[in-house]
Amino acid sequence: MQIEHHFSLKKYNTFGIEAKAKSFVEVTNTNELAQILKENQNEKLFILGGGSNMLLTKDIDALVVHINLKGKKILKEDDDFVWVQGNAGENWHEFVLWNLEQNFGGIENMSLIPGNVGTTPIQNIGAYGAEIKDTFVSCEAMRIDTQEIEIFTNAECKFGYRESIFKNEAKNQYVITSVVFKLTKKNHKINTSYGAIDMELAKHNIANPTIKEVSNAVIAIRQSKLPDPKELGNSGSFFKNPIVPKEVYEKAHVQFPDMPHYTVGENEVKVPAGWLIEQAGFKGKRFGDAGVHTLQALVLVNYGNATGQEILNVSKDIQKTILEKYGISIEAEVNII
Ligand code: EPU
Repeated sequence: MQIEHHFSLKKYNTFGIEAKAKSFVEVTNTNELAQILKENQNEKLFILGGGSNMLLTKDIDALVVHINLKGKKILKEDDDFVWVQGNAGENWHEFVLWNLEQNFGGIENMSLIPGNVGTTPIQNIGAYGAEIKDTFVSCEAMRIDTQEIEIFTNAECKFGYRESIFKNEAKNQYVITSVVFKLTKKNHKINTSYGAIDMELAKHNIANPTIKEVSNAVIAIRQSKLPDPKELGNSGSFFKNPIVPKEVYEKAHVQFPDMPHYTVGENEVKVPAGWLIEQAGFKGKRFGDAGVHTLQALVLVNYGNATGQEILNVSKDIQKTILEKYGISIEAEVNII
């Protein structure tokens, strides 16, 4: 393991922001991880996964530990299900495809989400009606202070909408090293009702899709709306869709009758932030090299050399305008560093 100093993180964050780490090391197995954590107990540490859910607004005055633990395997199976373990540094989409090749179902709706397997539980990633919590069995995580591996079950992770224990009480205390998913081998639960999946399948005259066909449809939809970080720096949805009390929604709805909404429980309503941002006139707007994506207003983009601060300023401007216009606060989904 080589510790590098004054290390550029531009290639390690999907926003493509130039920021320097005071020092940087890559670990490829749990022994190396334990060693680095033990030897640097008095150092400030910053754990880096796929870099797909963060906005770097400054240099990182810490030892950045890049989690590059590779490997995936079948732990056990019965006639109907298979328990698959992916190590934290596996690319999420490649992991999805590897499972699809073996006809293992349950995560196909989350095809093409950027990031690594180990970071999927942190914010309970989701798309097109599926969330990681639906197939997640458990994860192994190393305690930063003791280097012991602990197991978190699905219930212990306290998953919510883009939420888990790892964003709350367990924040900065663990490094997730691997995740186990329970997937179907047959009688797959095909879920195409959300978004445009049905429409995409109909275009190809597919009435009874396989999980691979669902994945292909999701890939086509995502590619048509969401920018590829390799071509245009971004971090997926920059904001969460706000969940507001019914009264707040009803008040806004009087003035904006077209506002889409989804009921959440009895007293709350989820409003698509993308709609609010588009209606407020930000979609496709560019401020220097920072901007709002032309095809999906929930995504902020780096056209080349934007600084994290510039992107943050755009996000603050959007939040302020939305609050003034609709009385609704929208929160960032990405971690602002
Ligand atoms: N909308 C607009 N304008 C926009 C974008 C959206 O009016 O620019 C409207 C759409 O017309 C639709 C509604 O907002 O009525 C919802 O849009 P969409 O189905 O595209 O999904 P989203 O709520 O914008 C969420 C996730 C995405 C996920 C999609 C599909 C969050 C924060 N985002 O976006 O996740 O891919 O649903 O399931 O929940 C991510 O987290 O990085 C991400 C991309």
